[in-house]
Amino acid sequence: GRVLLAYSGGLDTSCILAWLIEQGYEVYAFMADVGQEEDFEAAQKKALAVGAKKFFLENVYLLGTSLARPVIARGMIAVAEREGCDFVSHGCTGKGNDQVRFELAFYGLKPDIKVIAPWRIPEFYHRFAGRQALLAYAAEKQIPVQQTAAKPWSTDENLFHISYEAGILEDPDITPPADMWKLTTSIEEAPTTPERISIEFKAGLPVKVTNGAQTYTDAVDIFNALNTLGRKHGIGRIDIVENRFIGVKSRGCYESPGATILRAAHVDLEGLTLDRNVRSLRDQFVTVELSRILYNGHFFTPEREFITSAIPASQRTVNGLVRLKLYKGNVVVEGRSSEEGLYDEQQSSMDELGGFEPSDTTGFIQIESIRIKKWAQANIRKGQA
Ligand code: ARG
Ligand code: SIN
Repeated sequence: GRVLLAYSGGLDTSCILAWLIEQGYEVYAFMADVGQEEDFEAAQKKALAVGAKKFFLENVYLLGTSLARPVIARGMIAVAEREGCDFVSHGCTGKGNDQVRFELAFYGLKPDIKVIAPWRIPEFYHRFAGRQALLAYAAEKQIPVQQTAAKPWSTDENLFHISYEAGILEDPDITPPADMWKLTTSIEEAPTTPERISIEFKAGLPVKVTNGAQTYTDAVDIFNALNTLGRKHGIGRIDIVENRFIGVKSRGCYESPGATILRAAHVDLEGLTLDRNVRSLRDQFVTVELSRILYNGHFFTPEREFITSAIPASQRTVNGLVRLKLYKGNVVVEGRSSEEGLYDEQQSSMDELGGFEPSDTTGFIQIESIRIKKWAQANIRKGQA
C-alpha cells in the first residue's frame, strides 16, 4: 500500500518513515507550510534521503496547534486522494491531543481513509521504547539527529504560535532554558522605549495595522507585522500545565506574539462596541464551546459548523480603532474609538444627565432588592434561632 505520512523532519517522523518502508509500504511525505520558520528544502532532502518516494509541501496558514491540525489534515486528504494513497500516517504519541485531532479530521473528510499511527502499534512502541532506541535506529538508517540533541523538547510551530513540550520540560518545575524561546525576545532584552501602534477592525477582523509611517492591510502581512513587533517587545510567552483531552496533564510553553497583541486589541474594542448581553452569551457559549471543540479535535463536525456560524452575527458591530503601546512584554491599550454609537459619552458622564432620569433608578433598585431583603431577613432569623 501507499502511505502519506505527516512529516516534520524531526526524529520521530524520520524514524517512522524508515520503519514504514521496512514494513513494506511505499511512503510519500507530506509537510505543511503553516507559517513556521523552517528550512523546507532541507526537510525535503532529508525525507527523500530516508527513502520517501515523493515529497509534498502545502502552503496553508492558520491558528494554533489545535487549528493547524485540521488545516494540515485537509491538505493531506487532498494529496492522498490525488496521489492514490490508501493510508495516512503521523508521528503523534498515543498520549496526546494531536492524534485525536488528526484522525477525527481525516475521518471527517474521508470516512474510508485508513490510518497508521505507529506510536500506538505495540510492535513499534515496544521496539522504540525510550529516546535511546529511536536514536540508535536513526544512526542505523543514517538519519541526521543534530537538531534533536541540541533541542531536548518537541515543538510545533505555525503563523499563530509555537509550542514546546516534552523532554526536559516534563518536570514542571524546570525553568525552560533562555535559548529555548524562538519567537520572542526576553523581557530583559526588550527595548526600554515603548512602541505605539494602532489596529483597525471591521466586523471583528483586523483590517489595518499602523506603525508610524508603515501600514499593513493583507491578513498575512498583518499577522507577520504583529509577530515581528511582539517578538521585539517580548510579548506572548506563557508556561502552563494543561489538561489534554485524553485526561493526562501536560506542561507546555507557548509563544504567540502577534496573536497576543491582536487579542488584547480585539477584546478591548468589544468593550466599546459589543452589546452587553451578546458579549455575555458569546463568552459563555461560543468561546468556551468552540475552544473545547477545537482543542479536542472536533473541527470537521456539525457542532463546529453550528457554533462558528454564530460568530459573524456577534461581530457585526465590532468596528473601530484601538491604539496600543507595546512595552517589555506588555500590550497596553491607550485608547479606542468607533462609529458604532453603543457608547454614549453624555449618557455615561458623571457631569451631565444626557437624557437619563436618575430618579428612575430608585425604583430599579427597590425591585432588585426584594429577594435580597428576604434572603437577609431569613439569615438573621436563622442566626437568632
Ligand atoms: N499541547 C498543545 C495542544 O495540544 C500543543 C501540542 C503540540 N504538539 C506537538 N506535537 N508538539 O494544543
Ligand atoms: C504528541 O503527544 O504527539 C504531541 C502532544 C499532543 O498531541 O498533545
